[in-house]
Amino acid sequence: MEFKRLRRLRQTKALRELFCETRLNSKEFILPLFIDDGKNVFERMPGLDGIVKVSVDRLQEALEEVKKADIGGLILFGVTSQKDEMGSYATRDDGAVQQAIRRIKEYSEDILVLADVCLCEYTSHGHCGILKGDKIDNDKTIEVLSRIALSYAKAGADIICPSDMMDGRVAAIRKKLDSHGFEYVPIIPYSAKFASSFYAPFREVANSRPAFGDRKSYQMPYQNKREALREIEADILEGADAVIIKPALTSLDVVSAAREKFNIPIIAYNVSGEYAMVKSAGKLGFLNEEEVVIEILTAIKRAGADAIITYHALEAAKILNRKEL
Ligand code: PBG
Repeated sequence: MEFKRLRRLRQTKALRELFCETRLNSKEFILPLFIDDGKNVFERMPGLDGIVKVSVDRLQEALEEVKKADIGGLILFGVTSQKDEMGSYATRDDGAVQQAIRRIKEYSEDILVLADVCLCEYTSHGHCGILKGDKIDNDKTIEVLSRIALSYAKAGADIICPSDMMDGRVAAIRKKLDSHGFEYVPIIPYSAKFASSFYAPFREVANSRPAFGDRKSYQMPYQNKREALREIEADILEGADAVIIKPALTSLDVVSAAREKFNIPIIAYNVSGEYAMVKSAGKLGFLNEEEVVIEILTAIKRAGADAIITYHALEAAKILNRKEL
């Protein structure tokens, strides 16, 4: 035989469906939601077309959409003007995110709530840690992060997601949670988080740009794959229950390698800049947005992600639950 007729199994839709290797399910999508500490806020973000920033008193409207879409859950980020050097607003049990967690859980136990734990939205200098001079004090920072995590766990968060990239934060948070009776609250850290320009739209919404310098002393160089795998391994050893890798589209090799190497669930974060690119090209008519969204999410899953944090969560769920692609 001279050549393989691989096209045989692609001849009909029925054959293609039978041998489809990667199927998306809306339950695998996690939607980022920005919680504003003000009153009567329900804004669609200009740079993040369609994405909502909402205050606790208007949360119900957002939750109705989430419930209908049948997605896997929400990841919450706080937006506040109450910033100081220590990011102390984040540790307040009556903070906007803590109130939102309680409100969501009252509305429905079935909506999974992931709480992003970081300082950049809360510090006056916009860095993800506590400063000593112009440097990050790693060990002081992980103490504060542990207190934030505990406050979110007390409010009823289902999963704690530290996104700061400090050393030792998973072990510190695990210890803090365990010593307060939260042994069964999982920690899913952003283990491989690259210093990326794709976070720009997020920082606009969260008003969390660093006032000086950049995040390169804590977020990872995007050139380094082996280092990413070492970060993941370290977090697993410290007690991570699953890991997050981000950005998604520029880290598919890392997702794939981590899937081969570790038997732990992997969440890929399809970040704000990735979303903005698709949205703007779609708006200009350069591509078919719905098809591209499904293609991107399928590729992330094919690389090895078990779940995907994505701003496309609601629209992708609608597309999937409307038709087979
Ligand atoms: C907080 C955090 C950021 C993102 C998630 N958690 C911003 C940053 O690191 O600057 C970005 C996510 C996105 O772009 O959607 N540290």
